[in-house]
Amino acid sequence: MRIIVDADPGIDDALALYYLRAQADTEIVAIGTVHGNVPVEQATANALRLTERLGIKVPVAMGAGKPLAQDLMTAEEVHGHDGLGGFAGDEPTTACTGESAAEQLKRLAHKYPKQLSLLAIGPLTNVALALQIEPRLPELLDKVVVMGGALNVPGNVTSYAEANFWHDPEAADLVLGAGFEDLTIVGLDVTMAGHAPGEWLEALPQDIYPRKFLRFYADFYESFLGKSGFVPHDPLAAAILVDPALATYQEDRFAIELTGRYTRGKLVADQRFLAPGSPFGRDIAPERIKAKYAVTTKNDAFLEQLRHAVTLPYD
Ligand code: RIB
Ligand code: CA
Repeated sequence: MRIIVDADPGIDDALALYYLRAQADTEIVAIGTVHGNVPVEQATANALRLTERLGIKVPVAMGAGKPLAQDLMTAEEVHGHDGLGGFAGDEPTTACTGESAAEQLKRLAHKYPKQLSLLAIGPLTNVALALQIEPRLPELLDKVVVMGGALNVPGNVTSYAEANFWHDPEAADLVLGAGFEDLTIVGLDVTMAGHAPGEWLEALPQDIYPRKFLRFYADFYESFLGKSGFVPHDPLAAAILVDPALATYQEDRFAIELTGRYTRGKLVADQRFLAPGSPFGRDIAPERIKAKYAVTTKNDAFLEQLRHAVTLPYD
């Protein structure tokens, strides 16, 4: 499986790269960076640092520095001032390509038609921009997995909205309505349930890099969950892309609330059962192609895969 990753590293984004690197039959073809957890410049430097550290020799293209239609907001309180828990370290020795993430996505989708999967684990600004410059993107990409949304659980940035969709609601709604044939949404309904307990973290070798940046992330989560450990949102999305059998799904048409005073950025779906011939119309445009929403995951299997991935030796 050949994958383009669009990310805002970001601690759990870093874990997603560790996870993908450990999968024998997957290849990261390129990385695009986006505003979100940290400004896009920081996200780009972190992506470069991580590709160097993990020996992933792929192009990194800097993407959008702000959302389509609102001000930039970042989340250093969750990921640290440097986006990696204070352990980002020295400046990267490599540089981004100079191509934008959206242009990179369009170019590679044409170079490898129907052969590339997209893992989008940050705000969806770059994917939305790529759709604007290449409306045929849904025909050119194979599988698309997006980490975002909260359907039947509370949000994490507001009581309704999850961070990636909240950071750029217009972009998220454009992507969910673009017509991707094989789109999977991995939201808080499964990632919060995929909580990695403190014991999991404590069992990691002391000298591995993830142990360092996960401390900050776990402290944040302990501060409001009241239990030790952390939530591995992005690596779970990566795992579901690589092994869909890790999860079960509900199919629906999805949209993002854009105008709600309280609910802007919320993932919405018309979950009503309507018998055939029902006189009631659907709330969400029936022409939208249905997507899969992950509703349960084999969390123990995933956490063991993640433990293996972060403890694999690398130069
Ligand atoms: O809500 C969790 C998502 O927002 C994750 O992708 C995390 O990295 C942040 O971007
Ligand atoms: Ca992310």
